[in-house]
Amino acid sequence: MKIPRLLLFVIIVVISYGIFKAPGILLNQPIPSSLIVMYMFFAVVTTLLWITSTEKDMQGLVGPIKTMIQDPTKKTLRNIVFVIVPLVAGGITYTQLKPSYEAPVELRSIHPAPPSTVKAFGKTFNLATLVNPYRKLEKEDPAKFTQLVKEGGEVYFKNCFYCHGDKLDGKGHYAHGFNPLPLAFTDIGTIAQLQESFVFWRISTGGPGLPKEAAPWVSAMPVWENFITEDEVWKVILFLYNYTGYAPRSWEK
Ligand code: HEC
Repeated sequence: MKIPRLLLFVIIVVISYGIFKAPGILLNQPIPSSLIVMYMFFAVVTTLLWITSTEKDMQGLVGPIKTMIQDPTKKTLRNIVFVIVPLVAGGITYTQLKPSYEAPVELRSIHPAPPSTVKAFGKTFNLATLVNPYRKLEKEDPAKFTQLVKEGGEVYFKNCFYCHGDKLDGKGHYAHGFNPLPLAFTDIGTIAQLQESFVFWRISTGGPGLPKEAAPWVSAMPVWENFITEDEVWKVILFLYNYTGYAPRSWEK
């Protein structure tokens, strides 16, 4: 028996869809939906070309549709189809176009490679050789060093804790309003991994100083060279490491 052409068409389209979906369901390696749409387009077009290649099969394909639309005895079926088809189309369109509030999956580099030189405070710094001028006092003059850490703490609580938090945990009052979030210095993934020169660069030039890899989100980190002195940047860095107990990363050892 020859399968009615319309039914054959539907069967082929459904089976094709099943085949394209199978890797996702069986192997957990889904084909991207945009590709499936493309594959389905070709599947439908080729099937149509094949089925409509002879006049007789063409009749077999459109005949039932014509009958359904024109035959007065098919009124109920016609009404049902005319209600269901637009509803299904509407439903699919709705689910496709529904706004999604999820962030795009683009990856943002939290610690992009720094430039080799940085312009700040009207000078050019070479990041490879730049060191915290106060770091040596940690051994040479501990009392003076403690005083500098304290001053750095003052800089921090005047400028930074709104975003980075009073416990340096990135949970400042304003933090929730930002994407990317202000970083938690207590987190092992931030200053503990960085050299002081990198931190100096990040504080002095802030979000606008970041290279492209740090996109797509725009960092709210202010350009601190406009608000505090170079000295204060070095001191606040001392404070960040002292408070968290981390040692800055260095080339030595
Ligand atoms: C308006 C909110 C805000 C304030 C105020 C702020 N920051 Fe930030 N900061 C951010 C955000 C957001 C990030 C994360 C995005 C980025 O890396 O630029 C960040 C990142 C940083 C980083 C980079 C850390 C890393 O692991 O790369 C450092 C260092 C830093 N801030 C230090 C400071 C210091 C010091 C102050 C005060 C002088 C300060 N911030 C004040 C919002 C702020």
